[in-house]
Formats: sequence, C-alpha cells, structure tokens
Amino acid sequence: MKDNIILIGFMGSGKSVVGKKLARDISYNFIDMDIFIEKQENLSISHIFSKFGEDYFRKLEKEASITFGKYKNYVIATGGGIIKDSNNIENLKLNSGVVIYLKSNNMNHIYNNLKNNSNRPLLREENKMEDIKAIFEDRKHLYEKYSDIAIDVSFKSIEKIVSEIYTNITN
Ligand code: S3P
Repeated sequence: MKDNIILIGFMGSGKSVVGKKLARDISYNFIDMDIFIEKQENLSISHIFSKFGEDYFRKLEKEASITFGKYKNYVIATGGGIIKDSNNIENLKLNSGVVIYLKSNNMNHIYNNLKNNSNRPLLREENKMEDIKAIFEDRKHLYEKYSDIAIDVSFKSIEKIVSEIYTNITN
C-alpha cells in the first residue's frame, strides 16, 4: 500500500469523515488539512479568510502540503481548493501517495451536506446552491486531472465509500 492516501474533492463530499474511518480501518494516521491550519493559526477557516483574505489561506494550504508530503502512513483530508495549485498535489505526493477523488456530481447531495454549515467562507449564505454550482463547474476538471482514482460518493454510506476505497488501494 502507498505511504499516503490523499483525499481530494469538493466541499461537503465527506473527505474528513471518510478519511477518519479509512485511517482507523487500515491503521494509518489521519490528518485534516483545514483543522491543522486552524490549530496552527488559532483561528477558524472563516476568520482566516475574513481577516487575511483567501490568498493568505492559499499560502498556508501550500505550506501544509509541503509539511504533509514528508509524512508516512497518513490518510490526508485536503481542503476543496487544494487542486487550484498543481504544486500542492506534487508536494503531497512527495512520498508514494495515491490521490483519491471523492466525486459527487449531484449538487443536491453536496448542498445537503453544506446547508447547515457556516464555516465555508466561499459560499454566500443566501446564494449557497448558486455558489456551489459555479465553483464546482470551475474546478471539476481539476479534481479529475489530479486524481489517480475517483470514487462516486453521491448518497452512499460512509462504510460503502470506505470499502470501495479499500478495494481500490489494496488491488
Ligand atoms: C475550500 C474548502 C474548505 C476550506 C476552505 C476553502 C475550497 O475545505 O479549505 O473553506 O476552496 O473549496 P472543505 O473542502 O473541507 O470544505
């Protein structure tokens, strides 16, 4: 099995919850990039965006990708915007790493997962669905491009998603 399992995908696709269970099942460590950044800055993602702007957050994200690239035996849940810079993926794959795309083309599924959450600064509360659709449209080719494996996650249980990933990474 690869040194690191890197989960990418849009906001609300389940990277954190899937990553945690997968890590437990395969006895890997788990790290969530957004939580790592929040702890490092002692600020929530929303506050980082509002105080310092998106570019500053992207810089932290890039630094974290360099740090995580040196890890071994980790399941890494990335933030949805990690694919905006191809260097981030290269950094994360420094050791042997497999990039798994948790894919959902169903915007209702994504919306359902995000509707009660206000820690997504790129989504306007009053225009959430519209923003989700526009950002996803803009990025979907990048998720495809940078992933080694895509797993369809729409309306599947966590257990099912984890077992599909397991089958793919052990074959
Ligand atoms: C972002 C996704 C978020 C977080 C930040 C920006 C994005 O992570 O990193 O709000 O650009 O898609 P999740 O994918 O965990 O929501």
